[in-house]
Amino acid sequence: MSEKDILILAIESSCDETAAAVVRNGREVLSNVISSQIELHKLYGGVVPEIASRKHIEKINQVIEEALAVAGVSLDDLDAVAVTYGPGLVGALLVGVAEAKAISYAKKLPLVGVHHIEGHISANYIENKDLEPPFICLVVSGGHTHLVRVKDYGEYEILGRTRDDAAGEAFDKVARAIGLGYPGGPKIDQLAKEGDPDAIAFPRGKIDDSPYDFSFSGLKSAVLNYLNGCQMKGEPVIRANVAASFQKSVTDVLVEHAMMAVRESGLNKLAIAGGVASNGALRAAMEEACAENGIRFYRPSPILCTDNAAMIGAAAYYEYIKGVRHGLDLNAVPNLKLGER
Ligand code: KG4
Ligand code: ZN
Repeated sequence: MSEKDILILAIESSCDETAAAVVRNGREVLSNVISSQIELHKLYGGVVPEIASRKHIEKINQVIEEALAVAGVSLDDLDAVAVTYGPGLVGALLVGVAEAKAISYAKKLPLVGVHHIEGHISANYIENKDLEPPFICLVVSGGHTHLVRVKDYGEYEILGRTRDDAAGEAFDKVARAIGLGYPGGPKIDQLAKEGDPDAIAFPRGKIDDSPYDFSFSGLKSAVLNYLNGCQMKGEPVIRANVAASFQKSVTDVLVEHAMMAVRESGLNKLAIAGGVASNGALRAAMEEACAENGIRFYRPSPILCTDNAAMIGAAAYYEYIKGVRHGLDLNAVPNLKLGER
């Protein structure tokens, strides 16, 4: 390791994944351990916050030990400890924040609090060593749908956001309505491969006065109305067609808005991030649109799109080298805004 290498232990516990990673110089992942609670929450059809917090407490120490072991480093080798402190479930966030503060205190390590969405965006730096701001990023997760201009490391301008449901939320709700269970995104992604995306004409949500904003609740209602209509008429529901047509409706809008933002920004680079960015149809549609328009397209591997700690380590590095440090009074902020410290 050279003199100036910066080694960060990153911790993520904002929702239902307990994760820890060791990241060198922001872009080199030495370990990325994720303990998912999905099986546990499946029983209830969604994440139960209290169960999530308790499970994080059970898992966090072993996840961190494994991350250090896989990376072949000890706490003494680290330059900083980083942790997601918002947005997310407050009880879940607190587990990671308390753990990071304990390590910071015990080992006299600088503490860097990271915004979860900044983490998702920064996942793009890991496999694309040439990617540097400025660029446009579409963030599509279970809780957020943001079109962001990444002006510099840690500097963001939100161009558009959802007015109601997040894209991932729409996937989860529609999946539940057609009996696919939780988490819905990957299940719709899978089932849609067998369906016809043009079978059912679902609406493309638009906000008249603000072209970069999104709305998915009308689409969700249209799917529910369609299912009701089939039931009333005694017609069979071809679930694969519903999944494919719904997915097409979401991806069409995401692609259209992203293309418009890139074109008008004058920047020629688009990245996608967040759990929904692992969707096969979205990745393919975005790739095609970017190729047609001569735009460079960046997307993290699917495992770096859904929640993980490597992305937190990537974001933390750029905060760290800017001199951002948090004190032991760092608290979980469930509704932390992007760009806030
Ligand atoms: O980023 P993420 O792991 O957690 C949040 O920060 O919210 O995103 C989770 C969301 C869930 O709504 C999940 O259904 C969705 O991402 N998702 C997908 C896929 N994989 C995960 N949506 C569509 N297609 C997928 N393959
Ligand atoms: Zn996330």
